[in-house]
Amino acid sequence: MPAPALPYFDQVLQRLEAGDPQLERCFGNHVHWGYWKDPHPSELSAIQEFPQAAEALTRLMLDQAHLQAGESVLDVGCGFGGTIDSLNQNWDGLALTGLNLDARQIERARQFVQPRAANTIEWIVADACALPLATDSLDVVLAVECIFHFPSRQAFLQEAQRVLRPGGRLVLSDFVPCRPLAILLRVLQSLRGAPFSNGTYGPVDCRWDQRRYASQAKRHGLELRNDLDITVHTLPTYAVVRKLFAAMGAESAVRDTARIEQLSRWGWLRYRILTFSKPIAAGP
Ligand SMILES: C[S@@+](CC[C@H](N)C(=O)[O-])C[C@H]1O[C@@H](n2cnc3c(N)ncnc32)[C@H](O)[C@@H]1O
Repeated sequence: MPAPALPYFDQVLQRLEAGDPQLERCFGNHVHWGYWKDPHPSELSAIQEFPQAAEALTRLMLDQAHLQAGESVLDVGCGFGGTIDSLNQNWDGLALTGLNLDARQIERARQFVQPRAANTIEWIVADACALPLATDSLDVVLAVECIFHFPSRQAFLQEAQRVLRPGGRLVLSDFVPCRPLAILLRVLQSLRGAPFSNGTYGPVDCRWDQRRYASQAKRHGLELRNDLDITVHTLPTYAVVRKLFAAMGAESAVRDTARIEQLSRWGWLRYRILTFSKPIAAGP
């Protein structure tokens, strides 16, 4: 399957190649919304503190995974390898795999993240909905802010369940609509007859609300263990992203981001971290 067109990634890669220092600081490693412990930073400090916010989201997600020494971790939609980098810097003896559909991103990750201590790192170009990995082979699967781009959440949950060992954990973060918005988006998409695609962010599917996540995960053999709503701790990022797009002269991207921001500030679109586990089969 070819990588989906994600215009924002094309722009980010172009600016990184051109040596844009502000973009390198903000999105050269993690490419996600971050977690602001103080959700009301000043506009000036927001840009300064963004890299710490980005790392804080990663750490929060890794806390949910309850990692143990020697475990194997797959990060799907791994971007430039920021999450793998954080794992590699802070744990020893992990078998790490970063997977992305976009070979350009994997190439950058491979260059920037070198295994340290007793860690191993493998980089794979593949679709998260068709994992080229053995059944029951992993302890943890991570999907940091990428599942809304996937061709099918169901196919991904099925694949995550397959590759996890019994007792393994799946931790993902996603923009999750409130129920009325989810229903509206489902109706609009069926009238349209085609998936939504945004001029800035590419194909984005936000039709799964919390209830649907829980029921579909169960259907695919995963149990929802934890659900953290961190929306308020992500809101300062909108101003940072709008500013960066404005500095690139990308006015339509500023407007697209402002629209998503409005839905988030109204509370219609929530940022959630969901943790699932694959049950250990009951004995005979
Ligand atoms: C917002 S970025 C998140 C990147 C990374 N998880 C991070 O936190 O820095 C979304 C990522 O999903 C990747 N992606 C989109 N569709 C994919 C698919 N079907 N399989 C694997 N990766 C995919 C994109 O290439 C991009 O790297």
